[in-house]
Amino acid sequence: MEKPIDLRSDTVTHPTPAMRKAMAEARVGDDYYRDDPTVRALEEKAAALLGKEAAMLVFSATMANLVSVLAQTRRGDAVIVEASSHLYNNEAGGISVFGGLTPRPVAGVRGRLSPEQVEAALLPSAVLHPRVSLLCLENTHNAAGGTCLSVAQTRALADKAHALGLQVHLDGARIFNASVALGVPAAALAAPADSVTVCLTKGLACPVGALVLGSAAFVAEARRVRQAAGGGMRQAGVIAAAGIVALDTMVERLAEDHANARRLALLLAEAGLGVDPPPEEVETNLVFAEVPEALMDAQAVVEGLRREGVLVNPPRGRRVRFVTHWGVTARQVEAAGEAVRRVLGG
Ligand SMILES: Cc1ncc(COP(=O)(O)O)c(C=O)c1O
Repeated sequence: MEKPIDLRSDTVTHPTPAMRKAMAEARVGDDYYRDDPTVRALEEKAAALLGKEAAMLVFSATMANLVSVLAQTRRGDAVIVEASSHLYNNEAGGISVFGGLTPRPVAGVRGRLSPEQVEAALLPSAVLHPRVSLLCLENTHNAAGGTCLSVAQTRALADKAHALGLQVHLDGARIFNASVALGVPAAALAAPADSVTVCLTKGLACPVGALVLGSAAFVAEARRVRQAAGGGMRQAGVIAAAGIVALDTMVERLAEDHANARRLALLLAEAGLGVDPPPEEVETNLVFAEVPEALMDAQAVVEGLRREGVLVNPPRGRRVRFVTHWGVTARQVEAAGEAVRRVLGG
């Protein structure tokens, strides 16, 4: 049987041949002593690219979010999160487990909060209430359908948060998808935030790694928190080497994944699925589609697709996510569309 068309996630991407070569040949040292030249080179490169003073390599975007949030809050604080955000729903409650923090979920429109909602989520300063100290944003927003926050939207939210005395963390696990889709530098999207998570896996195809970015003082504190979380590294140049290749070679090509996602969204809609956001509004590489109740059971669609050699994650209710990435060609997108049509009996 042919290799399956794997649309489960952009995390299924494999390192490129150039990454494997760079990893094999990486100069390394003990990062605890800041002796690893490749880690330092990646951190400096990322900081320059994102327009921040400093960066720190961590193992995952989940760890980057956790470390960023803990480094800017005190135990018992509350943090404002978007209700369908990854940080709130998909990180095993880390900020509560390890930080003693209370999330304050607010539902955005396609994942986007408004400055008014941020203000409304504050609590009066009284002994009754936790102190609300941080606003968390997500760009692109995964569960909302890979939607982007523009520079102006990010700026308006951060300005409001700062005026209210909050810090701002940006979960930019897919910030380069947003940057490519919007045609603006990632640094412009990161500028309003005090701390930023950037993921090197996902569409950038590294085998492991993410970055925490912000001011030098913030990153110094984040290093302490990373140590407490068991995330200190040694000869991590073997990981960082792939990250350098990713930043050099894998960012601009994300446009292909976005074009493939829009095409796939159209094929899914033509096959009878309820694509939301609709095909013409698909912004990046994530496509969500509802299986209409009258048509078929969503789980049966997923199982039918598996038999056709197309992999997607189990549905959430009637909703199925399709993700394009470096490992999926335009031809495979057409084949996936045909498979969906066959499964739905079209
Ligand atoms: C928006 C967002 N943030 C953070 C993460 C966490 O990434 P990881 O699972 O690699 O730690 C993900 C993973 O999909 C994500 O979509």
